[in-house]
Amino acid sequence: MSSPTAAAPLLPGTDAPLAAGELVVLIDRRRRRYLVELTEGGEWHSHAGLLTHDALIGCLEGTAVRTNRNMEIVVLRPTREDYVLKMKRGAQVVYPKDQAAIVAAADVRPGCTVVEAGAGSGALTLALLAAVGPTGRVVSFERRDDHAAHARRNVARFLGGEPDNWQLVDGDLVDGLGQLEERPHRLVLDLLEPWLLVPGAAQALPAGAIVLAYMPTVPQVMRFSEALWDDGRFTDVRTTETLVRPWDVDGLAVRPAHRMVAHTAFLTTARRVPARDEGGPPPPRRKADVGPGVVWGDATAPAAGDAGDDPVGDPVD
Ligand SMILES: C[S@@+](CC[C@H](N)C(=O)[O-])C[C@H]1O[C@@H](n2cnc3c(N)ncnc32)[C@H](O)[C@@H]1O
Repeated sequence: MSSPTAAAPLLPGTDAPLAAGELVVLIDRRRRRYLVELTEGGEWHSHAGLLTHDALIGCLEGTAVRTNRNMEIVVLRPTREDYVLKMKRGAQVVYPKDQAAIVAAADVRPGCTVVEAGAGSGALTLALLAAVGPTGRVVSFERRDDHAAHARRNVARFLGGEPDNWQLVDGDLVDGLGQLEERPHRLVLDLLEPWLLVPGAAQALPAGAIVLAYMPTVPQVMRFSEALWDDGRFTDVRTTETLVRPWDVDGLAVRPAHRMVAHTAFLTTARRVPARDEGGPPPPRRKADVGPGVVWGDATAPAAGDAGDDPVGDPVD
């Protein structure tokens, strides 16, 4: 661990009393959550009244403590979800539901080397670091200095310093992809124009590696998918969306909650493969003719998947 900062939040469920310097999450009767760093002599003020930090220091997780207005507040150690949703951010963070989906869809596992961009606020970075474990490595690129500073601070605060298996590069991944020290197993993109990275990704990734982009809008998905297929060195291009609907469970009143995060983003993944003339797979059969009056891409070019643009010929289905 380099550049140590404040102590990392202890793992929730650690059987030790809360100490000064720890991050805690306070939950009120209306289930609102607040992230607070405990300091000796500190005070927490809210609509519920005043709570001294000293009343919390020394408690076990889960203790209910009363404010000066006699409101009960429960104190717990924060999960990564608590931390990510409350930490200071410069850029919009990837929500925990999508972090989980990204780790699964990109098959990020212990020992992986993952390159990601942009680091933004560092939320996805924390999920990737957890998934690769101490034997893996994450290299994050961020082209905005102010966002890089947020990412650095947020990661260091949650992990008690910048981990040795994490490198934050202050720069543009479009330039950085060609200068990586090692070939990554995974490339994870959360940035506006992921299609700009496709040629560099094809150069940087070994065969079999996975590229994933997290994109809020449909035009981004279309453009990224098209760029992947057009490059000819990617296959298995797939897009998903993850919806998580919270439920209220209260006696017989068991039903979906009135509010949910309806939309965040789409995930598109693809596998790097050799080009067709290097033994890779044929181009996909695709609907190039999308309808009357609609021209998709270069209308004069033969449609991808036509035997005419494939010297090897399509396999028999
Ligand atoms: C939505 S934010 C990323 C949030 C981050 N995934 C998180 O969970 O906190 C997008 C970030 O990508 C950065 N960015 C955009 N294009 C980039 C590029 N080509 N190279 C590096 N960073 C880039 C932006 O500056 C911005 O901070």
